Amino acid sequence: MVETLEAPRFHPPAPKPRTEPLGTLAFLMEVRRNPLATWMEEHFEELVITGEGALGRLTVVNDPAVIRHVLLDNASNYRKDDLQIRILAPGLGRGLVTAEGEEWKLQRRTIAPLFTPRHVAGFFPPMVEAAERLVRRWQRRPDGRVVDAALEMTRITLDVLERTIFTTGVARDPDALGRAITRFFEGQGRVDPLDIFGFPDWVPRIGRLRTRPAIRFFDEMVGDLIGARKALIARGEAAPRDLLTLLLEASDPETGKGLSDIEVRANIVTFIGAGHETTANALSWSLYLLSQDETARARIEREVDEVLGKGTVEPHHLEQLVYTRAVIDEAIRLYPPAPYMSRAAINDDRIGDLEIPAGSIVAIAPYVLHRHKKLWDQPDVFRPERFLPEERGRIDRFAYLPFGAGPRVCIGASFSLQEAVIVLATIVRSVRLDLVPGHEVMPLQRITLRPRGGLPMRLTRRT
Ligand code: HEM
Repeated sequence: MVETLEAPRFHPPAPKPRTEPLGTLAFLMEVRRNPLATWMEEHFEELVITGEGALGRLTVVNDPAVIRHVLLDNASNYRKDDLQIRILAPGLGRGLVTAEGEEWKLQRRTIAPLFTPRHVAGFFPPMVEAAERLVRRWQRRPDGRVVDAALEMTRITLDVLERTIFTTGVARDPDALGRAITRFFEGQGRVDPLDIFGFPDWVPRIGRLRTRPAIRFFDEMVGDLIGARKALIARGEAAPRDLLTLLLEASDPETGKGLSDIEVRANIVTFIGAGHETTANALSWSLYLLSQDETARARIEREVDEVLGKGTVEPHHLEQLVYTRAVIDEAIRLYPPAPYMSRAAINDDRIGDLEIPAGSIVAIAPYVLHRHKKLWDQPDVFRPERFLPEERGRIDRFAYLPFGAGPRVCIGASFSLQEAVIVLATIVRSVRLDLVPGHEVMPLQRITLRPRGGLPMRLTRRT
């Protein structure tokens, strides 16, 4: 019998885990430069590590049972910690990501119905249109032209959000909205030492000062859009069924109360902030990984050609594009767009032998969890097959957390997966992207996990 050897698979680049801990100052500098590079070998080998650091007592948890306890079974004993809120709130305001306690509960109850499968399915056409427009633009270029795939993915996810949140009637120049959004979020991503040490919000953070005009412009623009839409609804005219109208009409199923203007605005900013770079990164990493693995690329092209032919993605294709989806799942395992989550314990807690004192921090880092040696077979290898239906059942629900888990699980998960499958399948149908030789790829953690220095890729049309 002829033995068929599997081709060696690709080991995607990542900072080498440290063997020695960093001193406090070096640690702070590394956190500002690239927090990913602070992880140590033991984090990828031990299930629970507790230590005292600049932030007080910190327990890094990779044990799926403990994670389940913190995020789900005893979730009411844990809140998002102050550092996380200080980093996210200047950009996202008091929307669903940063709200806590009763305020969060009310917002979540009111907003959850916007992301039901029926509503998400309703966003299918704008997603397909955006993907088709992108590949039409690319196909007009001669073969060999270089594009920054990371930038292009950020553009398309913004385009999709603009079309699903506002549909029509972006009051000013739509490109200006895109530029304002990009500038608005640019200054938000870096962890500022002033945040780590808990300086009050009125102490200016240099990185954020530069984005102030963008914040004002963006805020005014969203305010104008809300005002115009409310006037339209008040006049009894038919309003588009986009996320803006849904937010304005949403009411708490228990009390019947709607969201205030401030909450509507904060959640629009939140959807854009939480939804555009994350989904863009999922797509960028998928494109990069495919460009490095001929076996995976041949397989996804075969699937897309069989399912789509030359046509556009249709809703019933989603369940047939299983390998396409597995590539995305594997890309966000290796490069989770939200690589770090943390919680502060409200009261003392005990999970088996593990004690979590009140006020201490529990860190759950999907980046570490997803590459943990005790939880994954060949964790550092790109192998989308592990997410195909026949193997997926072996993955513990709490070992794979690209979208978090429990009551605060990502509200936009199915929105972004639908978008990612549509965009990736449309791209694969139409073009091939190859990394420009010599470009070194490395993940960089800001709030999200992006390729440092972008992804220059060469386009070739598929005929
Ligand atoms: C690949 C894309 C995405 C990834 C990886 C992602 C990841 C996450 C994660 C890990 C959380 C939980 C954070 C925690 O528990 O501390 C979260 C929450 C959230 N995400 Fe996403 N997200 C994505 C796309 C989106 C999209 C498209 C939207 C909206 C349109 C969105 C809106 C939100 C909101 C509002 C929350 C807060 C939910 C709550 O606390 O109740 N996300 N996301």
